[in-house]
Amino acid sequence: MRDAAPQTIYLKDYTPFGYLVDNVHLTFALSPGATRVTSRIAFRPNPKVTDRVFFLHGEDLKLHWAKIDGADVSPQLTDRGLTCTVPDAPFIFEAEVEIDPAANTALEGLYMSNGMYCTQCEAEGFRKITYYPDRPDVMSVFTVRIEGDENVMLSNGNPVADGDGFAEWQDPWPKPAYLFALVAGDLVNHPDRFTTRSGREVELNIWVRPGDEGKCAFGMEALKKSMKWDEDVYGREYDLDIFNIVAVDDFNMGAMENKGLNIFNSSAVLASAETSTDANFERIEAIIAHEYFHNWTGNRITCRDWFQLCLKEGLTVYRDSQFTSDMRSAPVKRISDVIALRARQFREDNGPLAHPVRPDSFVEINNFYTATVYEKGAELIGMLKTLVGDEAYYKALDLYFERHDGDAATIEDWLNVFQDATGRDLTQFKCWYEEAGTPRLTVSDDFKDGTYTLNFEQKTPPTPGQDVKNPRVIPITVGLLGPNGDEVRESTVLEMTEGKQSFSFDGLSTRPIPSILRGFSAPVILERKTANTERAFLLAHDTDPFNKWEAGNALARDGLIAMVRDGAAPDGAYLDAVQTMARDDDLDPAFRALALGLPSQDDLAQALFDLGHTPDPQAIWDALETLRQARAQAMQDLAPRLYAQFQVNEAYSPDARQAGARALANAALGLITRLDGGSQAQKQYDTADNMTQQLAAWSCLLQAKTGDAATQAFYRQWQHDRLVIDKWFMLQILHAEPEEAANTVKKLTKHTDFTMKNPNRFRATLGALSGSAAGFHHARGEGYKVLADWLIKLDPLNPQTTARMCSAFETWKRYDSGRQALIKAQLDRILATPNLSRDTTEMVSRIRG
Ligand code: PHE
Ligand code: ZN
Repeated sequence: MRDAAPQTIYLKDYTPFGYLVDNVHLTFALSPGATRVTSRIAFRPNPKVTDRVFFLHGEDLKLHWAKIDGADVSPQLTDRGLTCTVPDAPFIFEAEVEIDPAANTALEGLYMSNGMYCTQCEAEGFRKITYYPDRPDVMSVFTVRIEGDENVMLSNGNPVADGDGFAEWQDPWPKPAYLFALVAGDLVNHPDRFTTRSGREVELNIWVRPGDEGKCAFGMEALKKSMKWDEDVYGREYDLDIFNIVAVDDFNMGAMENKGLNIFNSSAVLASAETSTDANFERIEAIIAHEYFHNWTGNRITCRDWFQLCLKEGLTVYRDSQFTSDMRSAPVKRISDVIALRARQFREDNGPLAHPVRPDSFVEINNFYTATVYEKGAELIGMLKTLVGDEAYYKALDLYFERHDGDAATIEDWLNVFQDATGRDLTQFKCWYEEAGTPRLTVSDDFKDGTYTLNFEQKTPPTPGQDVKNPRVIPITVGLLGPNGDEVRESTVLEMTEGKQSFSFDGLSTRPIPSILRGFSAPVILERKTANTERAFLLAHDTDPFNKWEAGNALARDGLIAMVRDGAAPDGAYLDAVQTMARDDDLDPAFRALALGLPSQDDLAQALFDLGHTPDPQAIWDALETLRQARAQAMQDLAPRLYAQFQVNEAYSPDARQAGARALANAALGLITRLDGGSQAQKQYDTADNMTQQLAAWSCLLQAKTGDAATQAFYRQWQHDRLVIDKWFMLQILHAEPEEAANTVKKLTKHTDFTMKNPNRFRATLGALSGSAAGFHHARGEGYKVLADWLIKLDPLNPQTTARMCSAFETWKRYDSGRQALIKAQLDRILATPNLSRDTTEMVSRIRG
């Protein structure tokens, strides 16, 4: 049972643990309903701590016995752990506990997924396995013995012994308990090898359920590329003789970087041309890289406490985005990352859940695996690199690895490394870690006597608990274009440190057109009155791919806002500019496909709100539909030409080149479908030999309301494949008319394949509802009610996934009083649920405000 009164934990209260752990021996006697875990832990008083308290975390454990130095003891137990009197000298603590993996639906600790045992210990799951100081600054070497009749039994580190009914593993690298992992099941592997640059032979395996072995090859290639890339770019080599990845169907997150034994949500590793889209392949490559890169940024150097989560996550996200940029197209990756950042992190930063990249308090740490910690955390690394330059960045990273290898470190340690390596004072930069909120950067300009001046002002709105914000250091990358489109000043980084600051460029013969915040050099909202003609000019001429895309995106957004707010007609300047761009064969097809995208419903709602307008989700939906239809009309000659030009007539490969061509052809198919009612899409559906083509065609048919046959055929074809059936659930909801969305969810949750115990299926269904703004926010309030119903049902089984999905409500204060009242009623209903988890209680209370 959860505590009655959850406690808030503060960064300022950090104290080290009173004992050091020299080594840990664990023995698991596996049994689905009653696994016995025997531990033998060598403790030693921590000389740095005077007031030593011996407290071991432990939750949902049945203690059979405990001993200190071989003598029986009877510790005091609470629902959060154990205390007992211990010697003031090194001692051995031993215990046997019993746990019930089969009953573990929270998917934290040791649990079962499709008959297979697996663990998830980050952040605080190890305490559900045995009594232990479950905090990241307590590091130790682990030896693990697994007893069971599974044919595969894995843990961290290297295998040291195995025999009939047992396997033993030893991890030579000290690690915190959150990196512990165990897997046991009847699994098959996809094996390979990698030789590190210093000659270590590493055995690689991807372990999957029988039947999935054909979906491992891509993940394995991604792993080998990641290992090579980390050697080439960061000089980091792998440090064990074996690296195992396991695919698990029931998993709360994407994947987990346990030392030498990464555990993946099967959606984040299994891939085949027939069942995965190009986007799935790209995501899998990125997640494999991310988890692998954690071996250095996370495992070899870990976090002192969970407030420092961004130390490993921000840096590792930054590293995986560099990897993807190198493997694929850097501009396309940057644009996609910014789209995602605005959609998730800006949204979070502008609402009741806003928190600093390094929070200073939490109730449940699971609620802080957020877009702010991850994605904004990565943006901060990118800004640091821009400020100090590439060479100094890698010098600082070398120093970081040298100085902190084996440490549980802090953001202060990280910034000190940069200060020491570069001589730069980072006091002001630290503000980015400590203050929440997205700065608004307003810009004006003048031109006089050959001198062009940009005047900037920064303001960060208040966020919960932080009313006053300090000016931050903002790297603003700027280039200037001449009237004929030539670049008259190349990109330079302006370093803004004041609340208001001007920068001048002289020696110019005519007034230039500025390209500001190139590459999205800082996570800010740029506010500048810009004429449509200037945007069209930048879309045509900017040499910076990000700002080129941004110009088109801003044109589309402003046009849509005028449609929603003033009932304007679709903007001709946008329709012309987007066509010119789409036709331009000098541009990468993937870039053109992105530039044919439109701002999301949610982005438009926030933009309207920022302009002082209460967003009407139905009106936003209607404006998008109208614009899409107008665009299809305007491009009725071009779309079929693009569609034909970008058909891929070679064997399927998920590489960036083919994926870009398919993305553009499928964008064209979307335009075509709006005029032909779906006949071209049906042809593509009937002949598709890969999931990218099949899914794009089915989406078009659903949008054209001629998808019923395809919906049935898709189900019949794929009913044996859980990951594909997730798509089947999701797309039907995403494409439902706004007034039908909630009903579609009600219908689909009655389907025999719906199960709330599988987080992927739950997210595919209820997550799709909250992802379709007009449907979720339909004025009747049915969307709110259906989501709340399911969150209340899921909470006792899986608090972590429930709490994460509450963020669907985080934007509620943007809307009209009618919708606000409907949402508030649901938030109150959730909060009034008896025994609501600590996770969900914290989230809903913060959202409700
Ligand atoms: N640490 C994991 C990652 O980013 C994410 C994760 C967190 C997974 C908590 C499970 C639980 O790679
Ligand atoms: Zn991570």
